Amino acid sequence: MIVVSGTDTDVGKTVVTAAIVAVLLQAGRRVAAYKPTQTGVGPDEPGDMAEVTRLTGVIGRDGVRLRAPMAPRPAASLEGAVLPSLTAHLSVIGALAEHHDHVVVEGAGGLLVELTEAGETLADLAAARPRSGVVVVARSGLGTLNHTMLTREALARRQIRSLGIVIGAWPEQPTVIEQTNRDYLGALPEGLLGAVPWGAPALAPAVFADESAAWLPGLLQRLGTP
Ligand SMILES: Nc1ncnc2c1ncn2[C@@H]1O[C@H](COP(=O)(O)OP(=O)(O)OP(=O)(O)O)[C@@H](O)[C@H]1O
Ligand SMILES: [Mg+2]
Repeated sequence: MIVVSGTDTDVGKTVVTAAIVAVLLQAGRRVAAYKPTQTGVGPDEPGDMAEVTRLTGVIGRDGVRLRAPMAPRPAASLEGAVLPSLTAHLSVIGALAEHHDHVVVEGAGGLLVELTEAGETLADLAAARPRSGVVVVARSGLGTLNHTMLTREALARRQIRSLGIVIGAWPEQPTVIEQTNRDYLGALPEGLLGAVPWGAPALAPAVFADESAAWLPGLLQRLGTP
């Protein structure tokens, strides 16, 4: 299981999820995508998995869909919904893993956002499944070093494997701050898997697929054989 988390909401997790799916498809792997909790959508409104489908063709699944654009627990309580348990998510992921080489799971917000009624987080989900790794999606600009280091520390404390960091939106003309951030993140032990260029979501899906491997040059080697 490849868990796509991030330093925050809106950092580009969905686009990075799509890029990871695209790289794996190009490598001939069978890939499934899953979003345990999708908030901020009405019953027929597209969520993050619809964006992954648009960019890659892979049809992603949602564990639960909630209307309010907020963290899952308050969003569920606003509409009187009960969030699926960690066991329920693990069984969906287990079923997907039977027929796919990789299950790519996109979190909601950052790593420690509560996903279940019992208050379990994406970190708990990652820790509960053997051979899981977490990709940390980070912003490029000021503040990202602290947020990234906090997320890494939370992973290390739980002995969850970090597969590496991905910058969600890398500008064409980076500032000195962005370039030094990238250099710093790249020098960490797990390092940078890559960066998705700014504007990638607007690319035609065929171009997105063709270019994705160049954005995440470290991914396939880091994952090894399925
Ligand atoms: N590389 C990029 N270039 C341009 N826009 C981007 C890029 N990556 C993400 N965006 C845009 O930024 C916004 C947030 O990105 P995205 O939805 O991937 O974030 P997220 O981390 O998945 O958020 P959430 O926590 O809601 O799941 C979207 O409108 C998306 O299209
Ligand atoms: Mg998203």
